[in-house]
Amino acid sequence: MSSALRIAVVPGDGIGVDVTAEAVRALQAVADASGRRLHLQHFEWGAEHYLKTGITLPGEPDNFDAILLGAMGDPRVPDNRHAADILLGLRFRLDLYVNYRPVRLFHEKLCPLKNVTPKDVDFVVFRENTEGLYVMMGGHFKKDTPDEVATEVDLNTRKGVERIIRQAFAHAQRNRRTKVVMADKSNVLIHAHELWQRVFKQVAAEYPGIEASHLFADNLALQMVRDPSQFQVVVTSNMFGDILTDLAAALQGGLGMAASGNIHPGRLSLFEPVHGSAPKFAGKNVANPMGAILTAALMLEHLGWAAEAQRIEAAVRWAIENDRTTSDIGGPLGTREVGGAIAHRLQA
Ligand code: NAD
Ligand code: IPM
Ligand code: MN
Repeated sequence: MSSALRIAVVPGDGIGVDVTAEAVRALQAVADASGRRLHLQHFEWGAEHYLKTGITLPGEPDNFDAILLGAMGDPRVPDNRHAADILLGLRFRLDLYVNYRPVRLFHEKLCPLKNVTPKDVDFVVFRENTEGLYVMMGGHFKKDTPDEVATEVDLNTRKGVERIIRQAFAHAQRNRRTKVVMADKSNVLIHAHELWQRVFKQVAAEYPGIEASHLFADNLALQMVRDPSQFQVVVTSNMFGDILTDLAAALQGGLGMAASGNIHPGRLSLFEPVHGSAPKFAGKNVANPMGAILTAALMLEHLGWAAEAQRIEAAVRWAIENDRTTSDIGGPLGTREVGGAIAHRLQA
């Protein structure tokens, strides 16, 4: 038997707490059923902890194989300070430069588009995750006067651009995908995205078997809705990736279905559903836990538990096919009942 996986669990705020509990149940069920060991340690970081102690991020979880996070965001912290420190803080401090967001439709009935089937929605987004418009560089000038100026710097480094583009091509090659498309705005961002264009062409030249193309990000948003089947691997900047993957979540049935990994290959990485803390649903047993459960599967796959990851996905697919689902995707159940059905299926 291989040694235990050590997972730091950070449920966070709002529905992050609700859905993470179900992801943990699925993890424990699949580990029990396969006779493998998981060591889960909870960290109560989030708005509550911040409001009580004034501390946002006490440190980085040490000595873990991965971090599983729910969501950050609470109306009692209007400037979202703790979320920036914890979520963005971990992305920066752990240098998690790949935001890997698979986009897969598990069942035709979940897609809002007409005549679109699971084989038509099966691509991955590589979102740059450590720079771009997220670096919080900039400032105010003449604040609170009629002449006020505010700037936000879009930081793009050669190293940062190249490493995310390389990951996208390497992923395509490993998974026998034949196309990589870059979403940019090089027609307007004539400095930053000219760099993306140049680096993309240079890296693409190393992969002659892969068709490399680019679309302007606005057009890519349109194409994703018009015909999602044309995409296999998408690579893009931090902010465009954030926006495009919410749209991509809709193709899968909504934010409650979408999984993601914040990855530095070979190092401690962080896995979280794409959705946020949805405060209006917090603690009400209505949030869809499938995005969090699929995120747990993504984490296991990343850590080498491929069979267990596939078993979780199969259990989610079974739950969808048998309407063991929450109301956001048309089902009759609550968060706990969906999580319970999936855990039960995993133990069977
Ligand atoms: P959100 O993802 O919380 O919610 C957007 C919409 O999707 C809402 O209508 C919500 O009800 C629905 N939704 C989201 N997840 C769902 C689920 N699991 N089941 C059913 N419905 C679901 O985004 P928002 O409203 O823009 O942001 C709320 C808070 O979350 C903010 O503080 C924001 O900063 C934060 N946020 C955090 C993360 C994160 O921690 N990774 C991601 C996005 C937003
Ligand atoms: C996401 C979220 C975050 C982001 C927020 C909460 C900072 O929307 O993970 O997609 O913008 O990256
Ligand atoms: Mn987002």
